[in-house]
Amino acid sequence: MGTEPGVVHRAHLFHIGGAPTIESACEHLVSVPDGALAVDAGGRIVYSGPIADLPEGQREWAQLDHRGGFILPGFVDTHIHFPQTYATDAYGGGQLLEWLENCIFPAEARYRDPAFARRAAIDFCRRRIAAGTTAAMVFGSAFPDAQDALFTETERVGLRMVSGRGIQTVGSAAAADLVTDIDTAIARSAAEIDRWHGRELVDVAVVPRFSLSVTPDTFVALGELYDAVRDRGVYFHSHLNENARPGTGEVDATKAAYGTDSYLDTYDGRFLPGSARGGASLLGRRSILAHAVHCTDAELARMAQTGTSIAHCPTSQLFLGSGTMPWRRTVAAGVTVALGTDIGAGDEWLIPQVASDCFGVHMSEPGDAGVSLHPAELLFTATLAGARALDREADFGNLDVGKDADFVVIDPQGWEPLAATLEFGIRADDTETATAQTLFALLMGIREPAIAQVWVRGRRVVA
Ligand code: GUN
Ligand code: ZN
Repeated sequence: MGTEPGVVHRAHLFHIGGAPTIESACEHLVSVPDGALAVDAGGRIVYSGPIADLPEGQREWAQLDHRGGFILPGFVDTHIHFPQTYATDAYGGGQLLEWLENCIFPAEARYRDPAFARRAAIDFCRRRIAAGTTAAMVFGSAFPDAQDALFTETERVGLRMVSGRGIQTVGSAAAADLVTDIDTAIARSAAEIDRWHGRELVDVAVVPRFSLSVTPDTFVALGELYDAVRDRGVYFHSHLNENARPGTGEVDATKAAYGTDSYLDTYDGRFLPGSARGGASLLGRRSILAHAVHCTDAELARMAQTGTSIAHCPTSQLFLGSGTMPWRRTVAAGVTVALGTDIGAGDEWLIPQVASDCFGVHMSEPGDAGVSLHPAELLFTATLAGARALDREADFGNLDVGKDADFVVIDPQGWEPLAATLEFGIRADDTETATAQTLFALLMGIREPAIAQVWVRGRRVVA
């Protein structure tokens, strides 16, 4: 029996307890104003609830008093680009395909320089800590040295991450530095898996940039690689149905390039219909596809069937004019929807700010599609849904006993507008409404200065 003492954190606890779907997130909202989170020496949550009910043995433990503040599960970012750390707010790009050519491929090519990439890895991790993003699916650089720098720095600071080098086997002159032949692409991904997958806090994904940056032959080879490593828990990550500009946009270009009616089929080993050619499916419980703005019902059903999740990136969609993922239709299909910053098309590192855009864009959907998301649904999407998308719900995503202690401490005094809203803006007399108002104000109003502490597996994360 572990006799080593742990630590008790005191604050107002907010989380989505249990393992609900989005439909029942509201009933699973846990709010404990005078709360205690007891974390054992191994970094596990052993008590989560009112301080008054703290078990005898844990009353002797050291207490960290965050009262006046809040403890929330760490935020989960299911889609963020490491090689776009400095590429946010790029003016003059246009929509997706032009923006990639004009702004992004040149920005990503700079990571060829290992010293530059090391500096970017440090800044990338520092910004994640500032934003309280304890776990993330990180779209990686094309350059192995840059990926090594990212994994090394992530482990050094103690954040959770899944990442994989961005694979491109075709591209224009602007992308030339990022493109390799297929054999090199496979060899580099395989080496990355061998070196970094299955460690305490980091894992590896196979990451073709999107279907237009590879070929059917690449997908055959990626399918073979993925089949060989899937059982080791390796992830798959890419983009799907983001830009639907008629004729010249990503969706039409993809369908034309692969001769298919379904973009998703290109990731499902079902390309070049009518011919014998196809490959292993890349979909599954460890697959996350970003955007999914323009999916057919059949594509959503197939994602739900395979356990493939969506990284919903409303901030990015506003910036690139990609449209709005239909919330009700997507959720009704039974697909897990989590949030992604999509740095650098998105320019917010803070998942709660992405949740704020999520609230705004879905409130603005036309007619019956419009929805006013409950703060519990936003908290679910920002935390537990992300853990589920990463297939790690058993380990983190909420403050339930038995999970690893991955959490953020919010001190409203760090951001005066938030402190003032919480002090003067909560209007309801009944507890349930006041709780919802408090959580909503908290999620919408958090900015980086209010994120006082970040903990992963019971260890404080500092840059
Ligand atoms: N599709 C292919 N590459 C990218 C990228 O870097 N960002 C976004 N938002 N979409 C993509
Ligand atoms: Zn992206």
